Amino acid sequence: MKKIAIFASGSGSNFQAIIEAVKKGELEADIALLVCDNLGAYALERAKNEEIPYFVFNAKEYDGKEAYEIEILKKLKKHEVDFIVLAGYMRLIGKTLLDEFEGRIMNIHPSLLPAFPGKDAIGQALTAKVKVSGVTVHYVDAGMDTGPIIAQKPIEISEQETKESLQMKIHQVEHELYPKVIQQLIKEGISVKK
Ligand code: GAR
Repeated sequence: MKKIAIFASGSGSNFQAIIEAVKKGELEADIALLVCDNLGAYALERAKNEEIPYFVFNAKEYDGKEAYEIEILKKLKKHEVDFIVLAGYMRLIGKTLLDEFEGRIMNIHPSLLPAFPGKDAIGQALTAKVKVSGVTVHYVDAGMDTGPIIAQKPIEISEQETKESLQMKIHQVEHELYPKVIQQLIKEGISVKK
C-alpha cells in the first residue's frame, strides 16, 4: 500500500474527504502522516480523532524554510512516505522537499489555473466577475500554483454568488475530485514530471 502524507494549514475538510475515501476503500492508500504549520488548525483535531500521526510546527521557530523542511523530510522518511498531498497548505514547497519529492507532490487549488493563483483565489474570481471558476489539481514545482495540471473541474458562478456560497460549491467539487485523482495517480504510478 502506498503511503501518503497530507499537508494542511486550516480546517482540513479535504483531508477529511481523503480519510473517508480511504475508509470506504475508494482510495487505496495509507495516510501515514499529517504535516501542519498551524497549531490552531482544525486539521489537527481530525488527525487526532482518526489516530493519524501528525507533525505540527511553527515556522517562526525555525531559521527559514530549509530548516523546517529538513525536519519535515525526517518525518516523511521515518513514516516511509511515497507521495505528498497538499490540501490547503498555505506555504510554497522549497528546494529541500522538491529535491526528494518533485513529481510526487500534488496540490489542489480553488480556481481554474493559471487564473487566480496564490491566496484568496475565490475572492479574486468574484472581484474579477468571471462567470466560471473551478478547481485544479496539479503537480507542485517551485512556483506559486504553477506546476503541470493533472485535472480541472469548472464551476459556474451565479449572479448572486457570495464568497461563502462559492466556497461551498468549490469544497463539494474538491471533496469528490481530489480522492479520485489521488487514487488514479497512485494506481498509474506517479512518474517524475519536471
Ligand atoms: C481548499 O479549498 C484548497 O483548494 C485551498 O484551501 C482550501 C483548504 O480547505 N488551497 C489553496 O488555496 C492553495 N493555494 P480545507 O482546509 O477545508 O481542505
